[in-house]
Amino acid sequence: MLIQDILAAKRDGQTLDSAMIREFVMAIASDQVGDEQIGAFTMAVYLRDMNLDETVALTEATRDSGHVLDYRALDLPGPVLDKHSTGGVGDPVSLVLGPWLAACGAHVPMISGRGLGHTGGTLDKLEAIPGYNVTPDHATFERLLRDTGVTIIGQSGNLAPADKRLYAVRDVTATVASLPLIVASILGKKLAENLDALVMDVKIGNGAFLANDDETRQLAMTIAEVARRAGTPTTALLTDMNQCLANSAGNAVEVRECLDIMTGKRRGGRLLELTRTLAVEALVAGRLAEGADEARRRLDHALDSGRVAERFAGMVAGLGGPSDLLDNPERYLAEAPVVRDVYAAHDGIVAAQDVKSLGMAVVALGGGRRRASDSIDHRVGLDSIATLGSRVDRHTPLARIHAANAEDAERVAEQLADCFTIGESAEVPPLVHDLLQ
Ligand code: URA
Repeated sequence: MLIQDILAAKRDGQTLDSAMIREFVMAIASDQVGDEQIGAFTMAVYLRDMNLDETVALTEATRDSGHVLDYRALDLPGPVLDKHSTGGVGDPVSLVLGPWLAACGAHVPMISGRGLGHTGGTLDKLEAIPGYNVTPDHATFERLLRDTGVTIIGQSGNLAPADKRLYAVRDVTATVASLPLIVASILGKKLAENLDALVMDVKIGNGAFLANDDETRQLAMTIAEVARRAGTPTTALLTDMNQCLANSAGNAVEVRECLDIMTGKRRGGRLLELTRTLAVEALVAGRLAEGADEARRRLDHALDSGRVAERFAGMVAGLGGPSDLLDNPERYLAEAPVVRDVYAAHDGIVAAQDVKSLGMAVVALGGGRRRASDSIDHRVGLDSIATLGSRVDRHTPLARIHAANAEDAERVAEQLADCFTIGESAEVPPLVHDLLQ
């Protein structure tokens, strides 16, 4: 079929069959269509939408447009599991979840991304660890996956290559915000990992990828349904992003917080609670536990016994980082030269956080990117971020700034005060809004 005929069909509001969609996606991957044709396609989909069958076909074709991981030669003794998040602020769940699942018998080939805009990226956080290589050769990837059970790395060129072109064109043609295109983009890449089960952490709230809560809920439902129909059992959780998840936001500061959790120095808190909740779902879906109670017992035992920290340490060393990171984090995680607390104008209770602006404050410090080509400063960020419902006063700050210099700290301190609403009381949203299977 001519590419123009496929474009005309979608332009005129017709339903595309899976053969047409596959033909178009394969033509993208093999460079047989131009960017103008991709742009016409994404605009037609944006305006005319796609039904569930079309979205499944687009997802499967994106997944199959390049290399789909194959573990048969590795003879892995446990299931291959992963988690993916739509992105948040102060959200380093992957750093703890990957080794935690590995410590419970799973294999986690977690292919992650970088931060862009207000959200942070797992690869940027890991690159705060000197020597950590996010692009290892395939033999190293396989060895770590088999022996350590977890490898958190970047996307290789041939994984879902059609998405790379599609996303680049969407970005410059105002067609990012289309549900079927978002679902196929996220899942096309994730399902190329050839997973036994996937847990999706879909963020909802003022710091979420989609600003509208109804659209976010629709995204979570569609992801769970499309992934299941494409052959990967998937649970989607709608989790709260009306406040930062961790107590810190940045790169080295978030790694430090994760190390404290894995080594038992820090207990409790929203980051640990959500990571455990996602891990429970993954263990049950991967049949490593009969139900939630057993999963929780296994997880707590793995954390308390130090096996989670061991798996993380094994992954870091295996990817070129220091072998004694967990014993000597201060030796390796660079500190920002300026550290400064920011206080509220008056005492009270934190009633709201503007999470997107908090994320942009980290970007303003140099800890995130405005453009994909920007480099970042791993030292900078925020910690001691006051949670919703907590009291702030002249002894308890809204947050602590880690900055490269006094001018940046001064500028961001002014911005930061506006990111918090201080009142007499707070309604704290639940950590998990919903679970969709
Ligand atoms: N993340 C992706 O990978 N793709 C999208 O379209 C949106 C978020």
